[in-house]
Amino acid sequence: MSTAQKSPPPYLIVRGSLPPPPPETSVAVVGLGRVGLPLALAFAAKGLRVIGVERDARTRAAIAEQRMPFHEPGCDELLRTRPLEVVADVSELSDGSLPEYVVITVGTPLQAHIEVDLTQLAAVTRSLGKVLRKGQTIVLRSTVAARTTEYVGRVLTRETGLMPGEDFHLAFCPERIVEGKALVELETLPQVVGADDEASRARASALFSVFPVDQLHTSLVGGELIKLFNNVTRYVSFALANQFALIADQFGESVHPLIAMANHDYPRDPIARPGFAAGACLRKDFGMVSENHSTTDMLVAAWRVNEYMPNFVARKLAEHAGGLHQKTIAVLGYTFKRDTDDPRDALTPKLLRYLEREVPREVRIVEPNLGGEIPLEHGGTARNWELTAALRGADAVVLAMNHSRFADVRRFVVGPDAIVAPGAWVADLWNVCNTGELFFCARPQVVGGP
Ligand SMILES: NC(=O)c1ccc[n+]([C@@H]2O[C@H](COP(=O)([O-])OP(=O)(O)OC[C@H]3O[C@@H](n4cnc5c(N)ncnc54)[C@H](O)[C@@H]3O)[C@@H](O)[C@H]2O)c1
Repeated sequence: MSTAQKSPPPYLIVRGSLPPPPPETSVAVVGLGRVGLPLALAFAAKGLRVIGVERDARTRAAIAEQRMPFHEPGCDELLRTRPLEVVADVSELSDGSLPEYVVITVGTPLQAHIEVDLTQLAAVTRSLGKVLRKGQTIVLRSTVAARTTEYVGRVLTRETGLMPGEDFHLAFCPERIVEGKALVELETLPQVVGADDEASRARASALFSVFPVDQLHTSLVGGELIKLFNNVTRYVSFALANQFALIADQFGESVHPLIAMANHDYPRDPIARPGFAAGACLRKDFGMVSENHSTTDMLVAAWRVNEYMPNFVARKLAEHAGGLHQKTIAVLGYTFKRDTDDPRDALTPKLLRYLEREVPREVRIVEPNLGGEIPLEHGGTARNWELTAALRGADAVVLAMNHSRFADVRRFVVGPDAIVAPGAWVADLWNVCNTGELFFCARPQVVGGP
């Protein structure tokens, strides 16, 4: 990027509603996943002329049938009432038909190394280079490591000879929604608008003015870092709660009531709850920060604590239960967080691998948010058990997730209606059974009773 064009970052909070872009403003959203599809539907609902770009044929087929390829509240209705035109590749938007705005929302996973995988972004940028024209605005919305938007600009310059900030506009406007609340949060969360020149900032700002939210104007790198700071804070706060669970366990205490009491009417910095923390955002976003330096820092420590939790749960459960060899284990929850149907980068598969090392008789997985079978990480599927069928006669239970559809679990695990095996041990990471215990015996066998 030419440094001559770079204006100092404004760090400006623009409050309230800005004038929206003219109706019929055209925008392409590239990558119709959990972020891109809700955004495309929300833009269309605001009257913009939207075209989707999605390389996955199954996703395109679902959208053509006006059917959401995944669960996101409110999106089914938007898609049913307003069909979305979708093409497979940006380069199909040629002959001057490329919309005024292109918003890139492709996946940015982490490599097996501590390194962001830019394969999807590189492919989109190369395709975009075939059709980019002067005056267009490119907005990167995927979560990326610092300086990645500059990289997008450099690729576009290499492919076209056009300069960001002079011939076309370039901005970074991160997505900050959580799955399950996409449409609500697009209308309520302040929108970060990162750009290194005034014209790009103004163009990106105008597009996102369709949403009645404050805008946070900053530089490209500023926008990239704000997004990472938000996610890394969550990741570290979950790691801290997990560390507290390990410390409490060392002292023979249960962490759930301790955290509840520490938080009770205490006005500062509530402690999160322990649990598996990974998923398509949190774990990889830590990697995006960490790839830029060599030293061990507190983010690496947070990563280690969160990654250790499945091992801890499997090992402690085995210890309490007197071993898990030839036992039946029910594992409740497979997706990466409460009430989502997204299994990407969840920690339950890692837990299952540790449980399998104990060589149990059977492991029964229950995931009510997945309609059919359980998709396994390296291909194939496993049976998705109905809750009571999985719990009946189970010798051990892991509550790996606190889905709202597990509200009844307590009834089947403790109390007179319990259907687990007598003496069954439970690992309740989320205190779903409300016993206050991380590990407890569900139906203690009374020795020498009447
Ligand atoms: N999922 C979330 O809750 C969330 C929240 C905030 C930010 N983010 C970030 O947003 C980005 C997207 O996340 P996601 O969860 O939507 O990912 P996703 O994998 O669900 O969606 C990405 C989509 O892009 C498509 N794609 C990839 N390359 C393409 C190409 N060359 N042309 C057309 N389509 C292409 C993929 O087929 C896929 O459907 C990531 O950077 C993620 O970190 C995600």
